[in-house]
Amino acid sequence: MKCLAMAHPNIAVVKYWGKRDLPLNLPSTCSVSVTLSGFRTITSVHWGTSRDRVLMGGRPASRSVAHRVLGFLDLLDPHRPPCHVESENNFPTSAGLASSSSAFAALALAASRASGRNLSVRELSVLARRGSGSACRSIPGGFVYWRKGSLPDGSDSHAVQIAPEDHWDLRVVVAVVDPGPKSIASTAGMLHSAATSPCFPVFLEKSGQLATMAREAIATRNHVQLFHAMEESTLLMQATMTTALPPIFYSKPASLAIIRQVYEMRRDGIPCGWTMDAGPNVKIFCLPRVLEGVVARIRPHAVDVHALSPGGAARLLECSP
Ligand code: DP6
Repeated sequence: MKCLAMAHPNIAVVKYWGKRDLPLNLPSTCSVSVTLSGFRTITSVHWGTSRDRVLMGGRPASRSVAHRVLGFLDLLDPHRPPCHVESENNFPTSAGLASSSSAFAALALAASRASGRNLSVRELSVLARRGSGSACRSIPGGFVYWRKGSLPDGSDSHAVQIAPEDHWDLRVVVAVVDPGPKSIASTAGMLHSAATSPCFPVFLEKSGQLATMAREAIATRNHVQLFHAMEESTLLMQATMTTALPPIFYSKPASLAIIRQVYEMRRDGIPCGWTMDAGPNVKIFCLPRVLEGVVARIRPHAVDVHALSPGGAARLLECSP
C-alpha cells in the first residue's frame, strides 16, 4: 500500500526543552503551540517494496536521516517489509523552523495508513512523538497543548487541540536570519542544557504556570498575556542554553536586532511578541491589522520573511494499493 500525507510545522509558545525519557521522547514539561499554515511537509510511504529507500526533497537522505526514518517505521512493525519513503518540505529544513515537527507528523500518518493501521488522533500523536517530540503537536491543528503525561510507557503523553485554527486570527511572521542547518540539533541542545545548566530547574518550575497562562490567553484571545507567556518561556529556555557548560548560542546578531525591534514596536503601540527555538530565526506573533507594519520593520534585518497563520491538522492526501 502507498499513502501520501501532509502536515504543517508548529511553533511552541511554551517550550518543550528537556526529556524525562530519551528513547520515548517523553517531555519534562507540558508545552503549548500553534500549528502553522503556509509551511508544510508532504510525505509518501510505500509499504512493501524491493528495498528500503529514503528520499528527501528528491535526493537520497543522509545515512543518519535514513536511519532515523527507517527506525521510526520499525516502531510500527519490527518485521516490516522494505519501504520507500519520500518527503518534501516547502521551507528550510533543520533551521529552527520546526521541520522535524511536520516531518514526523506526516510520516506517522502516511506510514501508519500504508501499513494498514487506522490510528486515532491520540494514537497518531503518541506515534509522531516517538519520531520527534514536537511532532506530536503537529497532528492536531490550530492551538495545541502537549500533556506531558505520567505513565512510563508514554501512552498519556500526547497533544490535544485547545482551539481550532479559526478560533483566533493571529499572524506569525517568520524572520529567516540564516536558512542553513542549525549548529546543534535540538535533542543534543536540550540534553546538554538539562545536564549542565543551573537554570534548568527554574525553567522546569515555571513551565507549568506559563502553559496555564498561555492556554488561558488563547481561550480568551488575550494577546498581551500570550506574548508575555511566550517570551518568558523562550527567555527561560535560552537561559538554560546560555548557562550550559559549554554554552550554546543559537542567536545571531540579526536575531537580537529583530528582538529589539519587537520591543520598539510594542513601545510604539504595535501589538506583537517574539519567540525563537533551537536556531537563529525569530518568529514574531502579531494581530493581522499590524502585519504589514511588522513585516516592514523586520525585513531589513532578515534574509527572508514569511507571514503565516494558524493552520490545520495533519491530513491524509491519498492511498493506493
Ligand atoms: C526548541 O522536537 O526537535 O523547538 O524530541 O529531540 O526531536 P526531539 O526535539 P524537537 O525539539 C523542539 C524544541 C524546541 C521547542 C519546542 O518546539 O517546544
